[in-house]
Amino acid sequence: MDSVNLFGKSIIALENVSSEEIRLILNSARKMKQIIRREGQKKLPNLRGKAIVNLFYEPSTRTRTSFELAGKYLGADVVSINSGTSSIVKGESLRDTLKTIEAMGVDAIVMRHKAEGAADFATQVVKPIIINAGDGAHAHPSQALLDLFTIEQHKGRLAGLKVAIIGDILHSRVARSDIYAMSKMGMEIHLAGPKTLLPRFFEFDGVTVHEQIEDAIANADVINVLRIQLERQQAGLFPSTREYARVFGINEDRLRLAKENVLILHPGPQNKGLEISSEVTYCEKSAIQEQVQNGVAIRMALLDLTLGGGAK
Ligand code: NCD
Repeated sequence: MDSVNLFGKSIIALENVSSEEIRLILNSARKMKQIIRREGQKKLPNLRGKAIVNLFYEPSTRTRTSFELAGKYLGADVVSINSGTSSIVKGESLRDTLKTIEAMGVDAIVMRHKAEGAADFATQVVKPIIINAGDGAHAHPSQALLDLFTIEQHKGRLAGLKVAIIGDILHSRVARSDIYAMSKMGMEIHLAGPKTLLPRFFEFDGVTVHEQIEDAIANADVINVLRIQLERQQAGLFPSTREYARVFGINEDRLRLAKENVLILHPGPQNKGLEISSEVTYCEKSAIQEQVQNGVAIRMALLDLTLGGGAK
């Protein structure tokens, strides 16, 4: 276990992160959560003298703010750049923007971009550590890690649990990262959504694809509800939002099919009344709000381990 080390590594997708490395990140996040729950004094000195830039080409509330706070809680200097207010609107290329940031002496770049492969491209053109905060429909590793962390905090384990991932699987980088991470940790994964949003390439060991949502959530320990990615869809992938809510929406009636103590997750932002009802969001089985706090802890762990080597 001691030989597992993420120091100096970029985190692009969980396909390339081992179960031992995931374990290391989850254990570190547990300690980080205690720090952020402290009243007043949340700062650790672990990343003092390091500089991090958040480079976001797509909208974000949770991910950007939590990466920013995570860096600050660890003592790093953090600057956030939004595409709408930077030279990107003047037409600067991704390569030139990355080179410009690198020239300022930055140690890590946390990056969100609408193109699949953008974070990987960044690792090829600049030296700072790159943390992928979402690249198109491809991957969102920190979200999957915070999902695992939240599940483990509630259930005390991961292996053997049945998770249902519901909705727009096709366009969801969260689903993709969850599927790789959860299967590495020995979870049983069931996917359901409209046929047009259900890719078949996820049919591998440990993953079952269902057309009926009821079959996916029957006896589930965890239900992860995905946001319908309207911005990544062409028109016509499902008949209407009303119809979607009726056939695939997670409401209190459907919850009864799952285990009594089922845990409800949603990465946010939610289309309330579409993929999830208000009653479910705010019920005692929902850990959606807690996922946000766990997101800060996971991002602290990721930055500490990759950039600081995980100082004791
Ligand atoms: C997710 C994302 O951006 O992929 N949101 C997030 O990071 N909390 C999920 C989504 O937008 O649906």
